[in-house]
Amino acid sequence: MAKSEIVCGLDMGSSRVVCVIGTPDPEGHGMRILGGASVPCRGLKGGVVLNIHETARAVRAAVEKAEEQAHQMVHGVYLGIRGSHLSSFNNKGAYNIARTDKEITEEDVRAVIEIAKAIPISQDREILHVIPQSYGLDRTRGVPNPVGMEGSLLEVDVHIITASSGHLNNVSRAVAEAGFEVIEPVYSLLALGELLVSPEERELGSLLMDFGGHTVSLGIYSEGAIRYSKELAIGADFITRDLAIGLRTNMATAEKLKIEHGAAHPSLFPEDGEKEIVFKGVDGRSEQRVKPSSIMNILLPRVEQIFTVVGEEVQNSTFADLVVPGGVVLTGGGAVLRGIPQAAEQILNMPARQGLPHPDLVHAADTLMTPTFSTALGLVCYPSAKGFTLSATGPKRSDSRLVRRVKKWFEDLF
Ligand SMILES: Nc1ncnc2c1ncn2[C@@H]1O[C@H](COP(=O)(O)OP(=O)(O)OP(=O)(O)O)[C@@H](O)[C@H]1O
Ligand SMILES: [Mg+2]
Repeated sequence: MAKSEIVCGLDMGSSRVVCVIGTPDPEGHGMRILGGASVPCRGLKGGVVLNIHETARAVRAAVEKAEEQAHQMVHGVYLGIRGSHLSSFNNKGAYNIARTDKEITEEDVRAVIEIAKAIPISQDREILHVIPQSYGLDRTRGVPNPVGMEGSLLEVDVHIITASSGHLNNVSRAVAEAGFEVIEPVYSLLALGELLVSPEERELGSLLMDFGGHTVSLGIYSEGAIRYSKELAIGADFITRDLAIGLRTNMATAEKLKIEHGAAHPSLFPEDGEKEIVFKGVDGRSEQRVKPSSIMNILLPRVEQIFTVVGEEVQNSTFADLVVPGGVVLTGGGAVLRGIPQAAEQILNMPARQGLPHPDLVHAADTLMTPTFSTALGLVCYPSAKGFTLSATGPKRSDSRLVRRVKKWFEDLF
């Protein structure tokens, strides 16, 4: 198998580095996942490197573990980028076709996108993505692809995502120190959107929420494209900290109690007959006892606060009305807590579902089809999937056999 047909996705989270290796399915049905590994890492918080050597160590360990499973060597990675150092906004561009033939070419499309991205940004930031949302031709809006059509005035609406150059360079340096090349930095939310939000949901209007440990990422999709994205410096580790403080225990015990006994909605507990849980206090020795309902009472206010902030962000985005039909698609480790979809539905007042990769898009062992692996899976699928949506302007657009084959499959599917 040619080297170019192996794709590696790397997701560097606040508690783990996750690596997935995949290859296009030989029958042309999406991506086949050959290996995946998740390694604890304390080197980053909310997408920002705090300890570069610890991060590099975890990256090396995660990639090597995934390589062993996949029986493949990795050279370059699609690197997930997230965190509140990212910001995004919408912009427009307009381009006059001065030629006599007036047929729109790919060069014209590139030119109008260049115009739309020509905005002043501060020296310490850089553009990560420019995603065309829709085109206009001679004042007719909503043209999905103007190439081959005739017109004098070509317009485009774009969604632009910028990142802090320093933070971007530090994650890339950690990957380089681990011995790998960054093929392309990819905003994690976009990779997740391709994987978890169906084309119908993207068309109808949906909210994607990646509920991480230290970051909540929000994406609003409508009419087939991303309209709004936001990185919030809040996350599920805050719930763990509340439990640690409330139960006077350490973070590791609080994490275990949250995962094994936590619930984020009152409907999940019977009124009586609760069995007490024994756990170790903050000293790691003394025995304490707690009822599951007491755990819920400690964590509920934080869950409510997080979803209230999410609701306010959506309202302030001016795209609130767009997301109601498709509702919210939840992912990230934070969304695994029992009762989170119910809490989301109640507080956001819209339908909620757990976002799981469609089995036709990725073929992976069940152990990898979980929210912990979703971003890395999305990154593996991203280079081929981005061709069939409007998000077709990654920094380096590859036209390899891999991309063409999977693109064709995606086109056939939808
Ligand atoms: N089974 C589970 N039940 C409840 N919570 C869980 C479960 N698994 C993971 N979590 C929580 O999910 C959070 C981590 O989520 P995730 O792995 O998406 O974040 P991350 O990528 O490490 O962080 P970030 O993306 O914010 O930098 C932690 O707070 C963890 O406690
Ligand atoms: Mg993550």
